[in-house]
Amino acid sequence: MSKDEKFELLLRQMEHLLEAETNVIANLSNVAAVIKEAFDPLWVGFYLFQECELILGPFQGPLACTRIPIGKGVCGTVAQSKKGIVVPNVDEFPGHIACSALSKSELVVPIFDENKLYGVLDIDSAELNHFDESDLHFYQSLATLLLKKCFQE
Ligand code: SME
Repeated sequence: MSKDEKFELLLRQMEHLLEAETNVIANLSNVAAVIKEAFDPLWVGFYLFQECELILGPFQGPLACTRIPIGKGVCGTVAQSKKGIVVPNVDEFPGHIACSALSKSELVVPIFDENKLYGVLDIDSAELNHFDESDLHFYQSLATLLLKKCFQE
Protein backbone atom coordinates (compact mmCIF):
# COMPACT_ATOMS: atom_id res chain seq x y z
CA MET A 1 0.00 0.00 0.00
CA SER A 2 1.39 3.44 -0.91
CA LYS A 3 1.67 6.17 1.70
CA ASP A 4 -1.18 8.09 0.05
CA GLU A 5 -3.42 5.00 0.07
CA LYS A 6 -2.62 4.49 3.76
CA PHE A 7 -3.53 8.14 4.45
CA GLU A 8 -6.84 7.72 2.58
CA LEU A 9 -7.70 4.55 4.49
CA LEU A 10 -6.84 6.11 7.84
CA LEU A 11 -8.99 9.16 7.14
CA ARG A 12 -11.95 6.92 6.32
CA GLN A 13 -11.37 4.83 9.47
CA MET A 14 -11.15 7.94 11.61
CA GLU A 15 -14.33 9.33 10.11
CA HIS A 16 -16.18 6.19 11.29
CA LEU A 17 -14.46 6.31 14.67
CA LEU A 18 -15.52 9.92 15.21
CA GLU A 19 -19.10 9.25 14.20
CA ALA A 20 -19.49 6.66 16.95
CA GLU A 21 -18.70 9.03 19.86
CA THR A 22 -19.42 12.67 20.68
CA ASN A 23 -17.02 13.27 23.59
CA VAL A 24 -14.08 15.39 22.42
CA ILE A 25 -11.47 13.98 24.83
CA ALA A 26 -12.46 10.37 24.05
CA ASN A 27 -12.22 11.05 20.31
CA LEU A 28 -8.90 12.91 20.44
CA SER A 29 -7.47 10.12 22.63
CA ASN A 30 -8.38 7.49 20.04
CA VAL A 31 -7.10 9.61 17.15
CA ALA A 32 -3.72 9.95 18.92
CA ALA A 33 -3.70 6.16 19.45
CA VAL A 34 -4.52 5.45 15.79
CA ILE A 35 -1.65 7.70 14.60
CA LYS A 36 0.77 6.13 17.08
CA GLU A 37 -0.21 2.62 15.90
CA ALA A 38 -0.09 3.54 12.20
CA PHE A 39 3.17 5.52 12.06
CA ASP A 40 4.85 5.06 15.46
CA PRO A 41 6.02 8.67 15.85
CA LEU A 42 8.01 9.60 18.97
CA TRP A 43 5.09 11.72 20.17
CA VAL A 44 1.66 12.56 18.83
CA GLY A 45 -0.98 14.59 20.54
CA PHE A 46 -3.09 17.67 20.94
CA TYR A 47 -2.71 21.02 22.62
CA LEU A 48 -6.09 22.64 23.22
CA PHE A 49 -6.63 26.39 23.20
CA GLN A 50 -8.01 27.36 26.59
CA GLU A 51 -7.71 30.54 28.63
CA CYS A 52 -5.54 32.26 25.98
CA GLU A 53 -2.86 29.54 25.90
CA LEU A 54 -2.30 25.98 24.67
CA ILE A 55 -2.87 23.28 27.27
CA LEU A 56 -1.78 19.67 26.86
CA GLY A 57 -4.55 17.37 25.66
CA PRO A 58 -4.73 13.66 24.78
CA PHE A 59 -1.41 12.28 23.52
CA GLN A 60 0.75 9.19 23.04
CA GLY A 61 4.45 9.22 23.86
CA PRO A 62 6.79 10.59 26.50
CA LEU A 63 5.86 13.20 29.11
CA ALA A 64 5.25 16.62 27.55
CA CYS A 65 5.16 20.24 28.62
CA THR A 66 1.68 21.15 29.82
CA ARG A 67 1.27 24.78 28.75
CA ILE A 68 2.54 26.66 25.69
CA PRO A 69 2.00 30.42 25.25
CA ILE A 70 0.58 31.58 21.90
CA GLY A 71 3.48 32.60 19.66
CA LYS A 72 6.03 30.37 21.44
CA GLY A 73 7.64 27.23 20.04
CA VAL A 74 6.33 25.42 16.97
CA CYS A 75 2.87 24.82 18.47
CA GLY A 76 2.46 28.41 19.66
CA THR A 77 3.63 29.73 16.28
CA VAL A 78 1.09 27.58 14.43
CA ALA A 79 -1.65 28.63 16.88
CA GLN A 80 -0.83 32.27 16.14
CA SER A 81 -0.48 32.04 12.35
CA LYS A 82 -3.11 29.30 11.89
CA LYS A 83 -0.83 27.72 9.28
CA GLY A 84 0.56 24.19 9.46
CA ILE A 85 4.36 23.84 9.66
CA VAL A 86 6.82 21.07 8.80
CA VAL A 87 10.05 21.50 10.79
CA PRO A 88 12.80 19.33 9.23
CA ASN A 89 15.26 20.03 12.07
CA VAL A 90 13.88 21.28 15.38
CA ASP A 91 17.29 22.67 16.42
CA GLU A 92 17.01 25.17 13.57
CA PHE A 93 13.53 26.42 14.56
CA PRO A 94 13.90 29.60 16.65
CA GLY A 95 12.25 29.09 20.04
CA HIS A 96 11.50 25.39 19.59
CA ILE A 97 10.31 23.94 22.89
CA ALA A 98 12.18 20.69 23.52
CA CYS A 99 9.86 18.45 25.53
CA SER A 100 12.07 15.48 24.65
CA ALA A 101 15.73 15.60 23.64
CA LEU A 102 14.97 12.72 21.27
CA SER A 103 12.71 14.82 19.06
CA LYS A 104 14.47 15.82 15.82
CA SER A 105 11.72 16.88 13.43
CA GLU A 106 8.13 17.94 13.87
CA LEU A 107 4.85 18.68 12.12
CA VAL A 108 2.10 20.83 13.62
CA VAL A 109 -1.30 21.75 12.17
CA PRO A 110 -3.97 24.06 13.61
CA ILE A 111 -7.58 23.10 14.26
CA PHE A 112 -9.58 26.25 13.65
CA ASP A 113 -12.47 27.88 11.83
CA GLU A 114 -13.27 31.48 11.00
CA ASN A 115 -14.55 32.08 14.51
CA LYS A 116 -12.15 30.25 16.75
CA LEU A 117 -8.90 28.40 17.33
CA TYR A 118 -9.61 25.07 19.04
CA GLY A 119 -6.08 23.69 19.30
CA VAL A 120 -3.20 22.11 17.40
CA LEU A 121 -2.19 18.59 16.45
CA ASP A 122 1.55 17.98 17.00
CA ILE A 123 3.59 15.03 15.70
CA ASP A 124 7.26 14.60 16.66
CA SER A 125 9.80 12.26 15.08
CA ALA A 126 13.11 10.95 16.41
CA GLU A 127 14.47 11.24 12.82
CA LEU A 128 15.63 14.41 11.11
CA ASN A 129 13.60 15.49 8.07
CA HIS A 130 10.91 12.90 8.70
CA PHE A 131 7.85 14.79 7.41
CA ASP A 132 7.07 16.02 3.89
CA GLU A 133 4.31 17.90 2.11
CA SER A 134 2.16 14.76 1.77
CA ASP A 135 2.24 14.35 5.57
CA LEU A 136 1.27 18.00 5.97
CA HIS A 137 -1.63 17.49 3.57
CA PHE A 138 -2.80 14.38 5.44
CA TYR A 139 -2.67 16.01 8.88
CA GLN A 140 -4.41 19.12 7.55
CA SER A 141 -7.23 16.91 6.21
CA LEU A 142 -7.37 15.18 9.58
CA ALA A 143 -7.56 18.56 11.36
CA THR A 144 -10.50 19.54 9.10
CA LEU A 145 -12.24 16.26 9.93
CA LEU A 146 -11.67 16.82 13.67
CA LEU A 147 -12.97 20.36 13.38
CA LYS A 148 -16.23 19.10 11.86
CA LYS A 149 -16.73 15.99 13.96
CA CYS A 150 -15.37 17.01 17.37
CA PHE A 151 -15.51 20.77 17.70
CA GLN A 152 -18.29 22.15 15.52
CA GLU A 153 -20.99 19.50 16.09
N1 SME B 1 8.08 21.00 20.40
C1 SME B 1 6.83 21.67 20.62
C2 SME B 1 6.35 21.49 22.03
C3 SME B 1 5.46 20.34 22.23
S1 SME B 1 6.23 18.88 22.32
O1 SME B 1 7.07 18.63 21.19
C4 SME B 1 5.27 17.62 22.70
C5 SME B 1 6.93 23.13 20.28
O2 SME B 1 8.03 23.66 20.03
O3 SME B 1 5.90 23.79 20.27
